[in-house]
Amino acid sequence: MNYTYLDCLAIFGVGGAHPRGLQLTKEFLSREKIDETKSILDAGCGTGQTSAYIAEQYQCNVTSLDCNKIMLEKARQRFSSLHLPIEVRHGSTENLPFDEGSFDIILSESVIAFTDVSLTIPEFKRVLKPNGVLLAIEMVLEKSLSKDEMKPIVNFYGVSQLLTENEWYHFFKRANFKQVSVEKFKLDFDEHDVRNVPDFSLSENIDDEFYEILEKHLHLTTVYKGLLGFRLFRCCI
Ligand SMILES: C[S@@+](CC[C@H](N)C(=O)[O-])C[C@H]1O[C@@H](n2cnc3c(N)ncnc32)[C@H](O)[C@@H]1O
Repeated sequence: MNYTYLDCLAIFGVGGAHPRGLQLTKEFLSREKIDETKSILDAGCGTGQTSAYIAEQYQCNVTSLDCNKIMLEKARQRFSSLHLPIEVRHGSTENLPFDEGSFDIILSESVIAFTDVSLTIPEFKRVLKPNGVLLAIEMVLEKSLSKDEMKPIVNFYGVSQLLTENEWYHFFKRANFKQVSVEKFKLDFDEHDVRNVPDFSLSENIDDEFYEILEKHLHLTTVYKGLLGFRLFRCCI
């Protein structure tokens, strides 16, 4: 296989490429104090579905960053068609192109696991303002697995490692986040509800290999159902 799972998301232009999609995002953002004075970073923004929602809903200052140029171009098109004044930056979460204390909130939806966790988490901490909050949705292992058992998942998704809830918690604490709360959502998921359906921004001439990657993804989610979950980590400085 020459292409990665993330290449596949970029080519299909999947918006809301995290568990429970925009519906979950709306749910946890509604509990935060967000007004037009706040600066929010959507780190690993993908095609910018969440960024656009935040800018429209809260009229605050939104910055969208991703390392994938196809994703970013699709995000730019979305913001431009909606006339949203969102700053788009190309860069890596492992070495953020922002000064210390730049953001009130960082949102990271299914991103950190694809990066070097030990670099990304301290970078998020560095660019948050005092009293800033990191909201991270991450895939978790519901029980520990041996390296061999993890191999098919790690290789397919191209993640650096697979972590349990407890291991994630310790990574956040090690980066000196003072308060880390973990939430396992029991949100009912109705796949026929259009609000739960991801949006797509397809590239032209999609190689057959990308359809094979999508199929493999669906296969793996079935095989590992019950073993792979997700959590919302809310980390305060
Ligand atoms: C599963 S997608 C999620 C996209 C978006 N957050 C969403 O929920 O739709 C993961 C995103 O993280 C981006 N990404 C992966 N590693 C990154 C890094 N080191 N720096 C910035 N973005 C990264 C990918 O390009 C991709 O857009």
